[in-house]
Amino acid sequence: MRPTLLLVHGFPQDATLWDGTAAELRDRADVITPDLRGFGSDDREVPSVLSMDMLARDLADLLDQRGVHRAVIGGLSMGGYVALAFAERWPQRVQALVLCNTRSTADPDEVRQARSATAETAFTKGTALIARGMMPKLLSASTRRERPGLATRVEAMMARQRPASVAAAALGMAARPDRTAVLQGLQAPVLIITGEADELMPLPTSEAMRAAAADARLVVIPGAGHLSNMERPDAFHRAVRDFLNELSRAT
Ligand code: MLT
Repeated sequence: MRPTLLLVHGFPQDATLWDGTAAELRDRADVITPDLRGFGSDDREVPSVLSMDMLARDLADLLDQRGVHRAVIGGLSMGGYVALAFAERWPQRVQALVLCNTRSTADPDEVRQARSATAETAFTKGTALIARGMMPKLLSASTRRERPGLATRVEAMMARQRPASVAAAALGMAARPDRTAVLQGLQAPVLIITGEADELMPLPTSEAMRAAAADARLVVIPGAGHLSNMERPDAFHRAVRDFLNELSRAT
């Protein structure tokens, strides 16, 4: 049966992160790429702390609206935190997980403090400043050199997000628990993808998730940084396509 592939964007991004991926994989799956609450064109109300659990609940509601019970749930970075929150609450709805450039652990104290500062900055100085500050760590040096247009597009995507949403998601990420046990207990296959040059999620974070999950494979994309699907689309899409093929052979 044709799977549903629900792809969740990262912070502070929107669904356009997945435009190329949705176009590329549409022949293989029903691909859904929502804007998370408060991001992109989504104008739902955002509480002062936007928890990963609330975002996961929104995804469950979206699947309900579409009449989809089980799906392959994928997420990049913050999207991966949301995918893990979804898997914790609705494991039976997870056909498989695709965890991209993310981690299952909680934030250490210093990162939590930095998130509070980010939330403050969003309101006082605006999201363009946050976008500018994040850029050096989002794309690999080779991507920045070879594809300056991509860097411009990514920065603009982040700069246009609303301050209240950016602040609330930063605080929501800070409050998320360690969800490594979710991976340990999950009875579904897991694909972990990361970029070999991802400075925000260095390789050991992906290796730890692979070791924790009962049924996981890890693909490290050469030349990619944190936004592996945008930076090295061919290798990224091949990895997801191979995984979907593997899933369909197993069912
Ligand atoms: C993201 O890309 O979603 C963020 O880098 C995640 C984070 O800040 O932990």
